Amino acid sequence: MSAMRYVRMPIEVESPEEAGYATIAANLAESSMPDVTLGSGGLGLDVGLDTIVLGYGDHRGEPALRRMIAAEAATTPDAVLLTPGAAGALFIVQTALLGAGDHLVVVRPNYATNIETPRAIGCDVTHLDLSFDDAWRLDPDAVAAAITERTRVVSITTPHNPTGTVVEAGVVDAVSRTCAERGCVLLVDETYRDLAYGDPGPPAAALGPHVVSVSSLSKAYGLPGIRVGWIVCTDPALVELFLAAKEQTVICGSVLDEAVAADVYRRRHDLRRANVAAARAGLEVVRTWIAGVDALEWVEPAGGAVCFPRLADDAGVDAARFHQVLREDMRTWVGPGHWFEQPLRYFRVGFGWPPVAELQRGLANVEAAIAEAGRGRA
Ligand SMILES: Cc1ncc(COP(=O)(O)O)c(C=O)c1O
Repeated sequence: MSAMRYVRMPIEVESPEEAGYATIAANLAESSMPDVTLGSGGLGLDVGLDTIVLGYGDHRGEPALRRMIAAEAATTPDAVLLTPGAAGALFIVQTALLGAGDHLVVVRPNYATNIETPRAIGCDVTHLDLSFDDAWRLDPDAVAAAITERTRVVSITTPHNPTGTVVEAGVVDAVSRTCAERGCVLLVDETYRDLAYGDPGPPAAALGPHVVSVSSLSKAYGLPGIRVGWIVCTDPALVELFLAAKEQTVICGSVLDEAVAADVYRRRHDLRRANVAAARAGLEVVRTWIAGVDALEWVEPAGGAVCFPRLADDAGVDAARFHQVLREDMRTWVGPGHWFEQPLRYFRVGFGWPPVAELQRGLANVEAAIAEAGRGRA
């Protein structure tokens, strides 16, 4: 069979936007910062929307935006290709580099597309299963051991979705060296890079021409609706390949979206400072709350706006019932484990998107649903 085997992913089928935001009482299922409007005070956009020429844009993407992204990785704008979100970037990279018979090593859990698109392609996949009990750490030796003669891509995500853990720079370095030695591409999904709590360092693409960084404006800047993401790679042949894939699917990006994106990205340092502070304030709310809930345990995140707690083994809570009560009776959304191919005892909590009052209400509902689902069990 040669056609792509597309299957809709639970994280998309069950997403808040598909359910309808108005049907949700407390939304802790988002992984981004609050969505902004063009008129948001914090943004103060100055893009001259009425004078933008609505012709085809630069196929690689708006040059000023590419220059700024390139500067972050100390490279040139030819190393940057704008894409329809990070999702578009991941699709381009995966379909350009992987075919039936090729092998991919990818961490799990993960943003679902990083796992599902390779499955749709039909390539061979080794999942590197991260474990709660090991604080979701990525072991560079495990990556090296998983690589075979046919491995074309190693795919990692940092800051990580759904756990919020960050792969240390030394580990990314070690994995990058292994990939260079073994002749495979290292794909680093850095969609949450601008929400790292400390200095995120340069994009991983700065490590060498075999490294492909993917990111976007969606999460850190609350702009998922303009669909602007990018690929950074210093290998011109790979960029040319990705450009061919882009031209055959969308030719160029939306000039309106890219104009807005460039204006926002110009002010990224101020916006980033404010949004990281807001994410950390949300995290503090979760930290205080979770300390008082015996039935839960977590690995504290080090970046981003999500965490991935779990119901403790000995808490005696029926996980399926917990999710049912939470969603159906309390209209409270979290990201259940099955969105990430994990057991239902795990769930993702987004603490950057809801206003604090909604976050607190949602967390109280989580606690009430745990109590309800634990009733009558040993
Ligand atoms: C790790 C990761 N990568 C990529 C994406 C896709 O983001 P977008 O296409 O909105 O940029 C997401 C969205 O949840 C994500 O969590």
